Amino acid sequence: MSTMDLFGELPEPVSALQAEPVQAQMQRLREQLHHHGHLYYTLDAPEIPDAEYDRWFKQLQALEAAHPELITADSPTQRVGGSVLDAFTSVRHRVPMLSIRTETDTESSGAQAFDARVRRELGLDDSAPAIDYVAELKFDGLAMSLRYEQGVLVQAATRGDGESGEDVTTNIRTIGQIPLRLQAAPDLALPNVLEVRGEVFMRRDDFDALNERQRAKMDAGVKGEKTFVNPRNAAAGAVRQLDSGIAAQRPLSFFAYGLGDVTPVSDGGPQFATHYDMLQAFKRWGFPVADQTQCVQGAQGLIAYHRHIAQARDQLPFDIDGVVYKVNDLALQAQLGFVTREPRWAVAHKFPAQEELTTVLAIDVQVGRTGKLTPVAKLAPVFVGGVTVTNATLHNEDEARRKDVRVGDTVIVRRAGDVIPEVVSVLFDKRVGEALAFTMPHSCPVCGSDAVREEGEADYRCTGGLFCSAQRKQAILHFAQRRAVEVEGLGEKLVDQMVDSGVVKTLPDMYRLGFAGLAQLGRMADKSAQNIVAALEASKSTTLPRFVFGLGIRHVGEATAKELARYFGSLDRIMDAPEEALLQVNDVGPVVALSLRTFFDQAHNREVVAQLRACGLHWPEGEPAAQVAQPLAGQTFVLTGTLPTLSRDQAKDLLEAQGAKVAGSVSKKTSYVVAGAEAGSKLDKARELGVPVLDEEGLQKLLADVTDTAATNQGVHIAPESNT
Ligand code: IVH
Repeated sequence: MSTMDLFGELPEPVSALQAEPVQAQMQRLREQLHHHGHLYYTLDAPEIPDAEYDRWFKQLQALEAAHPELITADSPTQRVGGSVLDAFTSVRHRVPMLSIRTETDTESSGAQAFDARVRRELGLDDSAPAIDYVAELKFDGLAMSLRYEQGVLVQAATRGDGESGEDVTTNIRTIGQIPLRLQAAPDLALPNVLEVRGEVFMRRDDFDALNERQRAKMDAGVKGEKTFVNPRNAAAGAVRQLDSGIAAQRPLSFFAYGLGDVTPVSDGGPQFATHYDMLQAFKRWGFPVADQTQCVQGAQGLIAYHRHIAQARDQLPFDIDGVVYKVNDLALQAQLGFVTREPRWAVAHKFPAQEELTTVLAIDVQVGRTGKLTPVAKLAPVFVGGVTVTNATLHNEDEARRKDVRVGDTVIVRRAGDVIPEVVSVLFDKRVGEALAFTMPHSCPVCGSDAVREEGEADYRCTGGLFCSAQRKQAILHFAQRRAVEVEGLGEKLVDQMVDSGVVKTLPDMYRLGFAGLAQLGRMADKSAQNIVAALEASKSTTLPRFVFGLGIRHVGEATAKELARYFGSLDRIMDAPEEALLQVNDVGPVVALSLRTFFDQAHNREVVAQLRACGLHWPEGEPAAQVAQPLAGQTFVLTGTLPTLSRDQAKDLLEAQGAKVAGSVSKKTSYVVAGAEAGSKLDKARELGVPVLDEEGLQKLLADVTDTAATNQGVHIAPESNT
């Protein structure tokens, strides 16, 4: 039936109102939806309110419901899914989907080996110029081939064995970032046939939200629901969903990175000289291409890219498992060709995996500084995230129960960046033993005191306090750390020896050990004992905030200690302050105030403080804040890069002493950015927002100016450290 015939028969409410032929109306709505969908999903820059988009969408749906014969494959309404398949049909790839050779060597050797190979294959000698490469992210999702005919998406297929995959078109249509129809671009011919290849994946935030929803369904008792192990599994599950309505609820993303079948150039197909130009064309046709894609030169360029991405990895909103290097010039790619199933012009350079399988040898319960009991899985050593991991936290009783980790289980451990390794999940079908479910002990595994879990709290705590040697050890390590009084070289092993031998029962005991006492511990060399004695001596000269933080009062972190020191000026005033006075301090609420009062009301804690002072610990004290000028109060500074003489902590202390806040990221509200050598994106952001930028000299001058003015105004001389 021709569409013209249809027009006459239509009883269309909307078109009657608007006197616009229904087909034209549908066409207009589709174009509007395509355009604004692209702005929203791919460019992340919507220009209209969501409600407006939804209104058009519903109008189009209504028209299509009345005229199902006018539904087109590229209609945005086809994204919602709904059809349920028995099985996917198999699709033969007209151009095979290859894999790439993988290097897992160190930063430089993988890149150098690849560059050397390419140069050799091309017959280039050392005098030939560096080769241009495109460096890309290696996305951790699944490869997809998207076929467009006359600009319309007609088929989406998985990689399968590379020769043929599965037709997953209905599911892929639900991905908002994938154009259902290619966008026309002036001066860029639309090929009759175009296969764009890329990766379907799930962002980490989308993954977390999905698992959250899954957990809520499980809690509500919905049958057959489960949480997903990682974004890649969740993405793979969504792509292979037979019910496209379910697939539509799984938030997937896409990046384009390659070409499959394409109409020959002679036939009006595209003409790109380089891989990079091709990616730019993909963008103009409406595909997302990762911003991190870069043109670089030679092995050095590849190495720098690898280093940069390895550092940025944990800040990316999605998982990657490495980087991919590709020869940029397509003529050179053709010349290099393929070996078996791999192109000679590309290589993947992998990062260490962030998740690995291992087995649980035991589940221990560790006691922290504040008495918190943490269940920890002891693991068969496994190399993950770049280090060998033997312990992984199970966080607390509820988490341990939810994951149901048992001794002997095969588990997935994850270590991303500097985060403590954790057990992600158990592979239940590999469970063989008869191990019992984990239960939290009701007494401290170290000192035997009662362990209690207070109402509304997630953690069990040992009630033993400093009677508990585990808490004592942690208290010493906390006091000795760099951010507190800093006793250089005092590590866990030595603290274990001090406490286990019984010679150190309280913090002051440590200062009374002396050379002889230390040398007796274990088999410590004289030189090491001397070093520790010197470090203990050096730690005696400290600052009030470091000392207060070092005491390890519950809820009193570094920032709160600084605020307390600034507000009260002296330790005695802090120790004697009633709760109402404590509540006047920035960052101090009722919980912190109570914790401070409780701590200083205990006679033995006051005794420890007195003894530490008697041992020689000292710091500059000053006036209470009410009497001290805070010339930079209300101003926010951001520090970036390396300053020539000041360390970051020193610069921060100087600024905070004058009442300034030091923040981690630049915004319109930032007063100044202080930038040193190798300042990065924060400096760019400052310039973009017009935030004034200071170097160290500028900072020193500003500090000198404000302290001068403040002193003149108030008749108080402020030495830089006097009120910290
Ligand atoms: S190019 C002929 N580029 O890695 C080269 N692949 O074995 C074809 N992958 O299954 C692949 N990110 O799913 C290429 N930027 C990227 C990639 C990438 C991830 C995956 C892809 C493929 C595997 C390579």
